[in-house]
Amino acid sequence: MQADDPSLQVAQWFREAESVVILTGAGMSAESGIPTFRDAQNGLWSQFDPLRLASAAAYRDDKALVWGWYVWRMAMVRQAQPHAGHRALAQLAALKPGMTVVTQNVDDLHERAGSADAIHLHGNLFASRCFACARPAGDVGIPTCAVSEPTLRLPPPRCTHCDGHIRPGVVWFGEPLPETSWQQAVERAHGCDLLLAVGTSGVVYPAASLPGIARARGARVVEINPVATDLSCKADAVWRTTAGEGLSKLFAALTTE
Ligand code: OAD
Repeated sequence: MQADDPSLQVAQWFREAESVVILTGAGMSAESGIPTFRDAQNGLWSQFDPLRLASAAAYRDDKALVWGWYVWRMAMVRQAQPHAGHRALAQLAALKPGMTVVTQNVDDLHERAGSADAIHLHGNLFASRCFACARPAGDVGIPTCAVSEPTLRLPPPRCTHCDGHIRPGVVWFGEPLPETSWQQAVERAHGCDLLLAVGTSGVVYPAASLPGIARARGARVVEINPVATDLSCKADAVWRTTAGEGLSKLFAALTTE
């Protein structure tokens, strides 16, 4: 086994585990062409100011700017396809019924690859709701021009019930996580024997506390990420590879022996 390819070791731990949690972050979707947040080159937060785009205050301040930016992201996700790593996760779940995908991502790539029960900690880009009465907005329509226009200004649609403004279904800075999703994620982290942290920088809490919660209860923690992160020193193994390659290799190691 090579130091930079711990697939056999992780496969062994996966086999031994009764319950597995896969915690994914923006790096999980990177190979589908969705930018991460903090990568220096093309991370969203290196190009756009989160204070102007990702909080309730920002939305109150300039609704067209914020809505236009999220519609751009919705359009980008609609055009993207799940990659081999997303598909490998769905296949891994078929091998291990006690496996749960917990994601910080607001796209629907896990679901489209077959992980129907992924727990979304930071909401869902496509679950828009009313800013005033919180009723679901249904299909908001995504203009095709939005794909190439990250700074498109678009007035948000209005709520058919109260005429309030529609907001994206994501968790903004300063907002609590959806309670049920968070409770479920903590429960699974408490009870798991193995947690794989895939494509996350591990700096946004409380999601970033899940590997520590699992480890404190005796679970093994493995990081899959091409670079070192805040989680690396808390992991039992680090696997310097991409989500697509690592998860595909893990599935292959489990099924080709
Ligand atoms: P980040 O952008 O902070 O981190 C992405 C991680 O993915 C980095 O550590 C990269 O090294 C890694 N990465 C890049 N390409 C990869 C690949 N192909 N395979 C595997 N890993 C790769 O994204 P998150 O950790 O998800 O919050 O950020 C957490 C939260 O911060 C997001 O959910 C978002 C953001 O503000 C909200 O929207 C509420």
